[in-house]
Parts: sequence; structure tokens; C-alpha cells
Amino acid sequence: SGAQRPRLTFLGVGPLGGTYAACYAELGYEVLGYDVDAGRVEKFSAGELPFHENGLEELVRKNLATGRLRFTTDPDEVAEFGDVHFLCVGTPSRPDSHSADLSYMESAVTTLATRLTRRCIIVGKSTVPVGTSSWVQQLIDKHSPKNVEVEVAWSPEFLQEANAVQDVLRPNRVVLAAQSDWARDLLHAAHKGVFELAALEDRHVPLVVTDFATAELVKVAANAFLSTKISFINAMSDICEVTGADVTALARAIGHDARIGNKFLRAGIGFGGGCLPKDLRALSARAEELGVGESLRFLSEIDAINIRRRSKAVRMAADLTGRGSGPAGPELSGVPITVLGATFKPDTDDIRDSPALDIARRLAGAGASVTVYDPLGVDNARAQEPQLRYAASLMEAVDGAELVCVLTAWEEFRHLDPEALTDLVASPRVLDGMNCLDPQLWRNAGWTYRGMGRG
Ligand code: UGA
Repeated sequence: SGAQRPRLTFLGVGPLGGTYAACYAELGYEVLGYDVDAGRVEKFSAGELPFHENGLEELVRKNLATGRLRFTTDPDEVAEFGDVHFLCVGTPSRPDSHSADLSYMESAVTTLATRLTRRCIIVGKSTVPVGTSSWVQQLIDKHSPKNVEVEVAWSPEFLQEANAVQDVLRPNRVVLAAQSDWARDLLHAAHKGVFELAALEDRHVPLVVTDFATAELVKVAANAFLSTKISFINAMSDICEVTGADVTALARAIGHDARIGNKFLRAGIGFGGGCLPKDLRALSARAEELGVGESLRFLSEIDAINIRRRSKAVRMAADLTGRGSGPAGPELSGVPITVLGATFKPDTDDIRDSPALDIARRLAGAGASVTVYDPLGVDNARAQEPQLRYAASLMEAVDGAELVCVLTAWEEFRHLDPEALTDLVASPRVLDGMNCLDPQLWRNAGWTYRGMGRG
């Protein structure tokens, strides 16, 4: 079996594996999703999502109905089912350092390998330190039955939350690494659906077939580059601020040069989420281990620029409300502040390393009385920062505020009508942490507007 339409399993059905499982079923593969978290498996099996992702629920329901998509907590079933097993487990930072914690990967590989009964490949998708694939092969060799041929292969993913379904069905490139001919053929067959869809739609998906170290590095290099772009424009935004320049116009103008490009040049409160910050630190840590730490030392400055955006936002809040700073930093005792946005970006309920929520926490730490509103992120935010107040609606949130901070660029916030809020707030002041509002509109409505690096 296998060479035509191999059967696929996805180990770890979080935002990565869950999306892949449903999308590859949609592409025509027989798919089994596996997780140790019974709650996740139950939800998916019932056609519900354990996290928010645009367009995913429809795909899950549709493919549960076709029978091509199933979920399980039983590793024996996974071992028996799959020709190609994709590793999609999390690789968080270790609590005591910046390097990646591979314990979920270790337990997934070990659990699977001991149970294997048929020839298959185990494909790394999770973001890992360069060199991880050979460690995975060692785990496989140690734990899999001697009479079963099993090889590691690698294929990094580049999906962006909120656009993940599109990114998986219509990726802008596919990167593959495999050892033997049979493993390579199987790996190609497991991605054939993506190329068939592209052909149908008259698109071209570039394919990069490469060695393992390169495949592992592609992902972290891409994320480090994206982080660098964001910190670059944020650093420029500081010079814009002191010179009266406008960073949004600056970004547009440099972005017209195709060599620079106009994406990932939005200045604001910096990048967050479960990937960019952690991958940046893990790459630095890995470079140190490999003896080339100096070459990548600039990444720690990229990180520092990013984190300074958050303290800067708190200082700006103190300035805007006329409180300024004391010896211990910005002083906001008792000032009612509304934070619009808790998630790290719109169209997700993900609050991992969210700049918005961190700033809300810091504002409260400076004494402010903070009320947070977010269309999808309140439950997750409350679990992490229970000391903050959470409002059930935007109108309730802004009631009585001396300052409104827009810290996630939700559609609902971008199109706010300032006139409709003026009578609700105590003082019409807005801090636009995402540079997503029209300054003229707000100023015309009588508001004091401050963006990030906008003159
Ligand atoms: C990121 C990468 O964009 C994906 O390509 C990658 O596959 C993924 O990480 C991953 O490693 O799995 P994601 O974390 O979903 O995707 O979020 P992004 O859309 O990249 O946004 C990251 C952060 O950067 C957000 O906090 C966003 O507000 C911020 N950002 C983005 C800016 O501050 N300025 C910009 O111009 C763009």
C-alpha cells in the first residue's frame, strides 16, 4: 500500500496538526489525527474545534462525514493505520532556558515507534532546533521493532494562524527531505494532493527538495527574518517619532521596492504568538550551542527591540493620561484604562505571548484599573491573567475610560466610530498600538490620538 494515496496520521492535533489533518482529508487522503489530550480528540470527533481557526470547522465536519477523517487517543490504532506519520506536537521553550523542549516529540516518537508493525515514514513538521531529525531517527532505531522498516523524513510548515487552512491547502512552497528512495517516494505521495490542487487551479507551488539540516533551518530562518522585519520597522518608528515622520508612510514607501516588499512592516507593539518570539530565542540558543552564537547575536537585539515596545506602550499610556513616570516607572494609580484586544492577532483566540495581554498586565502593574475586551480571547485571557477585569461587550469595556488602547487589530476595532464612544468615555483619548485607526477620523471627533511612530 502507500505509493498512490498513502494513509496519513498527524500526531498532535493542536493548531498545526488539527489543521493539517482536516485539510489533507479534504485533499483526498485517509487521515487519522492523534492526541494524548482526550478533550481535543473528543471535540474534533464531534465536529467541534478545541481552538478557533477560520474555515476549519466546516472542513472537519465535512470530512468526518466522508469518513476520510478520524481522531483517536489510541497509539496502537495510529501505528496500524499510517503509511506516513506527521509529528505535529508542540516544541515550547524550556522553563529554564530559551532552547526548545523536545519532550513532547520524544514521547510521541517513542510511543509510536514501539508499536509499529508496517513500513512507514515519520515526518517532522514541528519547529525544531537544527539537528533534531537525526535524534528522531535514533529514537526510532532504538524503539521500533527490528523487522519493520522505518525512516525519518522532514517537511517544515509555514502556516499562519487565522489563515492556516489556506496556507495548508495552498502553500507558497513545499520543503521536503528524505533519505532512501522509497521514503522519498512516500513523502512525495503524501504531498501530491497539494500539487494536484494547484494544477487544477492553475497555480504553481515551488518544491524545494533538500537535506535534513536545511529543511530544519528553513522554518526558523524564515521566522527569524520575519521578526527582523518587524523589529526593523519598530526601531525606525522611534526615529519617526522624534523627527515628526510617519512610519506608516515610510513603510509603504520602502515596501514598494520589491526587494524589500510591503509585508511584515507594520510598526506597533511588536510581535507575539506561539511562534515568532520562541523561535527567535531557540535559534539564538542553538547557534550558541553550535559555536556560531556571535553570528546570530543580532537576534537578541531583535528580541530586545520587540520587548521594549511593550514598556513603551505603558509609558505612552502614562504620558497620554498626564500621569507621567515616578522612580519606579510609569505611574497609573487608579486610572481607568480600557484595553481592546487580548489575542496576539485578530481572528484567533490564541493569547500565547500576546503583546496586547502583556501590556494590559503591565498597565495593571503600574496601578491602572484595566478593563479588557476581546471578541474571542476573553476565556483564555482570564485563565492567564485573572486579576484583570473583562467586559462582555466593547461598549461596556470603554465605559468611563480615561484612555482606550487598541492593542489587537480586530476588524471590529478598526472600524469603530469614535463619535459613538465619545459620550461613554471619561476622556476621549486613544492609543493605537497597531496603527490600525485613521488618526484624522478620531481627531475630528474630538479625540486625542496617539499611534506608534506616527509623527
Ligand atoms: C508565524 C509566521 O508568520 C508563519 O509563517 C509561521 O509558520 C508561524 O509563525 C509558525 O511558526 O508556525 P503566526 O504566529 O500565526 O505565524 O502569526 P503572524 O501572522 O506571523 O503574526 C505574528 C506577530 O507579528 C503578531 O503579533 C503580529 O501582530 C505581529 N506583526 C505582524 C507585526 O507586529 N507587524 C507586522 O507587520 C506583521
